[in-house]
Amino acid sequence: MNYHTLMAASASIRMFTGVDRYDAAVVLGSGLGSYATAFNDGVEIKFVDIPGFPIPKVAGHSGSVVAAPLGNKNVLLFSGRVHAYEGWEMDEIVFGVRTAVACGAKRIMLTNAAGGINPAYAPGDLVMISDHLNLTGRNPLVGANDDRLGPRFPDMSEVYSADLRAQLADTFRESGLVPHEGVYAAFLGPTYETPAEVQMAKTLGADLVGMSTVPEAIAIRHMGAEVVGVSLVTNLAAGISPTPLSHDEVTETAARARATFTNVLDRFLPTLIDSPID
Ligand code: HPA
Repeated sequence: MNYHTLMAASASIRMFTGVDRYDAAVVLGSGLGSYATAFNDGVEIKFVDIPGFPIPKVAGHSGSVVAAPLGNKNVLLFSGRVHAYEGWEMDEIVFGVRTAVACGAKRIMLTNAAGGINPAYAPGDLVMISDHLNLTGRNPLVGANDDRLGPRFPDMSEVYSADLRAQLADTFRESGLVPHEGVYAAFLGPTYETPAEVQMAKTLGADLVGMSTVPEAIAIRHMGAEVVGVSLVTNLAAGISPTPLSHDEVTETAARARATFTNVLDRFLPTLIDSPID
């Protein structure tokens, strides 16, 4: 991680928007990026215009950040993330969230599309992430540690803030949703899992499978900011689903769940941004 590039990225967002400090950030997962466009008074900055930003290559990710005021605070909404399966290095994958923390964000919400393992979940459900299993074989903190960013051996006892989860559970209930919570197992991809891999993940305690989020959550915790994670179950995981998996199914379910997702985020963002930590 090049510290100076990170500072340049953060400075470029803050100077371009004339906003000194961003209080929170949201990373919008597959099929959920359009949420950012709903902010009428937001300013969109393309990733290509920010120093050091990796440019997404997968369909459905547009690659920009919307900087928007919310009450008397400010939020960054990232649509389009990069994944390890595209060939990006871990440093590049976590560059966006590290930039958000460098802009001042104390709380970051990570969203994704995931396969459901837990039989209580149906496609279209939103599930809070309670913890994760890093089955990618990678970690963004491998290599020399930059002490300006965080400690060599960060604690991972509570990656996903219990406080924020409790508040998100309230939001789910207010929105008429079951406050599902589950363990997210991250695989490297880009293949979907085999049924045997899904059974393995289930045996290890996973409720959800996906190909993102975990590196970002690790990097955010490394920098001492808080994380809250939400998966949209776009399909039943391989072997649980009676039909083969496809990316079309993922994007179609995400599109169908858009109103629910929008409703939850609209209600939750004021909570996310109202950080008592300063
Ligand atoms: N597996 C991995 N990643 C995914 C899935 C899945 O079943 N659905 C959406 N993203």
